[in-house]
Amino acid sequence: MSVLFQTGKLCLYKKCLKTSFCKYVFLRKASDVPRQFVSFDEIVAQRRAEARRSLVVQVNSESSFTELYGYCSKYATVNDIHHYKNSGGEHFMLIECSTEENLKDVLQNCSSHQKDLDVMAVPSPFLWFRAAPGKEKYPVTTRSLAVKDGCNKVDEDALYEELLNCGTVSDQIQLLYDRTVLNDLGIRLRYMVARQLEVIFSSLYANIAIQPFGSSVNGFGKMGCDLDLVLTNALTNEMTAANRRLVYQEKKTEGGRSPWQRHMELVAALLELRAPGAARVQRVLHARVPIVKYAHDMTDLDCDLCYNNTSGVYMSELLYLLGSMDNRVRPLVLAVRRWARAVTLTCAQPGRWITNFPLTLLVLFFLQQQRLLPSVRQLVQLARKGDIRIAEDNLNCTFLRDASRLPAASRGDHNLQTLLMQFFEYYAQFDFQDKAISVYEGNPVRKPNALPLYIVNPLEQALNVSRNVSYEELERLRLEVRNAAWQLEAGLEGKKGDDWGILGLIEQRSTRSLKKLLRVGNSHRLVSVKDLFNDKEDDPNSTEIKSKVQRLSKTEKDNVNELKDSVVKDEKNSQNVKEKQTQSMKYKNTQVRNEVNRIRRGKIV
Ligand code: GTP
Ligand code: MG
Repeated sequence: MSVLFQTGKLCLYKKCLKTSFCKYVFLRKASDVPRQFVSFDEIVAQRRAEARRSLVVQVNSESSFTELYGYCSKYATVNDIHHYKNSGGEHFMLIECSTEENLKDVLQNCSSHQKDLDVMAVPSPFLWFRAAPGKEKYPVTTRSLAVKDGCNKVDEDALYEELLNCGTVSDQIQLLYDRTVLNDLGIRLRYMVARQLEVIFSSLYANIAIQPFGSSVNGFGKMGCDLDLVLTNALTNEMTAANRRLVYQEKKTEGGRSPWQRHMELVAALLELRAPGAARVQRVLHARVPIVKYAHDMTDLDCDLCYNNTSGVYMSELLYLLGSMDNRVRPLVLAVRRWARAVTLTCAQPGRWITNFPLTLLVLFFLQQQRLLPSVRQLVQLARKGDIRIAEDNLNCTFLRDASRLPAASRGDHNLQTLLMQFFEYYAQFDFQDKAISVYEGNPVRKPNALPLYIVNPLEQALNVSRNVSYEELERLRLEVRNAAWQLEAGLEGKKGDDWGILGLIEQRSTRSLKKLLRVGNSHRLVSVKDLFNDKEDDPNSTEIKSKVQRLSKTEKDNVNELKDSVVKDEKNSQNVKEKQTQSMKYKNTQVRNEVNRIRRGKIV
């Protein structure tokens, strides 16, 4: 993504949100004339306002659009309706009304469940659309859905084909970014989930705000990334005005434990009882930052809700700012994150390995070394009065917020391919033994202790954001960057193979070898389940596959047979799926299991 500059007033911004936020806003060409940088605070304010006038309605299918549009238009002016399906195949429509007042009118005309007395309706922006009791007629409209299936997962096979057909590695990196970055609807839904909690909790807290942070808002998020939420005491000017003499009495928490822990216990209970869509609530209340984790089934989001962690929000703002300064930063970060996941340097569970946040700092630091980004120290020095921010524990999070105030600097003209290659080479040679990575200084600094990997927290320099990383994991990182540099370089020489450019870097290793094994002839098509069971003598594919399987080594043959057996088993299993829902299948190894799971999902292997 590149710098988010406003080339017109708010109406233009609105238009860009209506089309494809990320394409329009973030894919600005370097040649566009920047006029006004849209700050993180402005984006957040606009997104929050958008959520305050939006609803998510469960519907029967995408063809419910005309009826839903007609029905809501009785009460409100509808700006747009976006359609998506969750992983359970349920259909939803996100409706954006033109004003908050409009939305209130719609909500005032909502009803509760008619038949089940045990259902206690929750006033939240998540609703469902009941079938009409009789024949209702709505005026014919020329309007249509703004987006259909807006949250569909990226089709990995199609993406693979597209990447294969790119002209250059830079094109591949840009394409990977365009196809996988969090889209407009993804961002809207994240703000809706935050809004839902705000509405539910607002009857208990006078001045509560719930805000997304992390990769959902910092520009480095991909479709399906988790949702980090922070619950804060929103101290607005009105709420703190000295001339307001009547003040709410407070409830003092008793019992010795931190009041935040108690609040989070309540929040967790409310999530379980009063938040439609929230499921599998987990309390992690004894951590330094108490967190409540939950899944939001209607939006398919995994959420982490914490309390008063404004430094996390300022960190997201800093990353957003750095990512906005050059249109190569975000594609590069996403490519590196994807590579790290493919080679299992990162993992969904926390542990003794690096996570996406410190990995992102590694990329930003490398770009500072290339003089493509300024140091955080420079941003702090350029800060003005309006940039002062103090987070909890008096942590100073002041830095320049307006990127357009940065002095013009030459940022070099290396393309994404060169930058990716140099990134791997840079860390293949980095002195991790003695040096720490400091995005604050924009230079390596002396390591203050013997921890294997030291990445200075740019907002709290006494802290190491990678303190959890073990020696083994650091060694793996060093090995993998060397491998990646070698692989990328080798792939550039000679004819483009099936894993040329970033393809070899971003494909999961487990699927890569089996895919190679099952590739049909010289084509890029892979053996499908059908192929494995195809016995027709006159089918050239079948003959080719058979002879290919005959040429395989014993282990490889075992793998294919295992795959076939697994599929047979899988089919048998699916026939009895209802009775056997609890019985999990046994596979020889994870490779085979992953492939069979892919087949299960109806994809061609
Ligand atoms: P993914 O969730 O993996 O897509 O990336 P993420 O950037 O959202 O990372 P994560 O969910 O782990 O953390 C959320 C945000 O919390 C980060 O983007 C940072 O802004 C902030 N954060 C994470 N770790 C630290 C830390 O050690 N110190 C501080 N101050 N902030 C952190
Ligand atoms: Mg996150």
